[in-house]
Amino acid sequence: MPAADREQVRAYAPGRVNLIGDHTDYTGGWVLPMAIDRGTTVELRRGGSSVELTSASEPEEFRAPLGLSREEAASTAGWGRYVAGVMAVLRPSAGGTGTVSSDLPIGAGLSSSSSLTVAAALALGFGGSALDLARLGQQAETLGSGVPGGIMDQLCSAAGVAGHALLIDCTNLTVDPVPLPPEAEVLVAHCGRPRTLVGSPYAERRAACEAAAGQIGPLRDASLADAESLADRVLRRRARHVVTENTRVLAAAEALGAADLAAVGSLMSASHASLRDDFEVSTPELDALVMQLEAVRGVFGARLTGAGFGGCVVALAEPGTLARIDPASLPGPIWLVHPSPGARVEGAG
Ligand code: GLA
Repeated sequence: MPAADREQVRAYAPGRVNLIGDHTDYTGGWVLPMAIDRGTTVELRRGGSSVELTSASEPEEFRAPLGLSREEAASTAGWGRYVAGVMAVLRPSAGGTGTVSSDLPIGAGLSSSSSLTVAAALALGFGGSALDLARLGQQAETLGSGVPGGIMDQLCSAAGVAGHALLIDCTNLTVDPVPLPPEAEVLVAHCGRPRTLVGSPYAERRAACEAAAGQIGPLRDASLADAESLADRVLRRRARHVVTENTRVLAAAEALGAADLAAVGSLMSASHASLRDDFEVSTPELDALVMQLEAVRGVFGARLTGAGFGGCVVALAEPGTLARIDPASLPGPIWLVHPSPGARVEGAG
């Protein structure tokens, strides 16, 4: 079709911050993330037999023909590998030319890659449910990055609800919005150490959880006594984190629904300790930042958010707390984030 007749699409997908429930999604447990008011926009003039995208923040361009195989997607380099993953899984009927822009910090644990994947799928014509969009995004991202991630990030980006966190059951894939009370402020602070899950021990942690489940059954159904019965010291600690974290997520969702922010905050602090001591995915920078934020008046609790190994800390605080923090005293930027709607196509025609 002549370029002038091509359909113009603008797709947007938010990033997410996880309030509590890390390293529980890939064993079918519970998580409590919220989509945030930062995300990725893909603008595409649809048509033609290839996808050509430039990025507002990255120098390299992405260009690939329709019909890209899974193997070709898996060997694509740079940010374009997420778009390549989408193309190989979605197999869109038309390509397009356009731009990608994002106001999410990259590699900070706020799901910049999932928001790109989900926005690219919408721009390339995906038209199903939020859950199907998340499933497609998860497959595409695993293909593009080689990291066997769970479904939390894509499902939160696809199904976000304004003003609400999402209690996600990662076995049944149900999403229950939990209102964030007006007395709560959510802060996200970067610890100064960037992270990437590619080449990180993420896959090793996932394999350890699978090994533990092989001995005591699905970790979602396991009791603390089951976890403690594991003979291997490392597997025991990994399983103990997952079992106790699942309990904390359910308790936090209930406490948040009841606007008991002090209770949510102490569950967040306990979650950080478990991720640090039992799951061993924290870093000295993350630990120091959690302690620093927890010492600020008005902060109910703080923890690393996402996979760990660097990136961001999330804090639950009373409104106005950000103004009491001197940004110069922090190792990286700090953002006030708001629970936001999920991915959408913003304009076509
Ligand atoms: C990454 C993955 C998610 C989840 C978190 C840890 O963000 O993409 O699926 O496993 O780590 O909770």
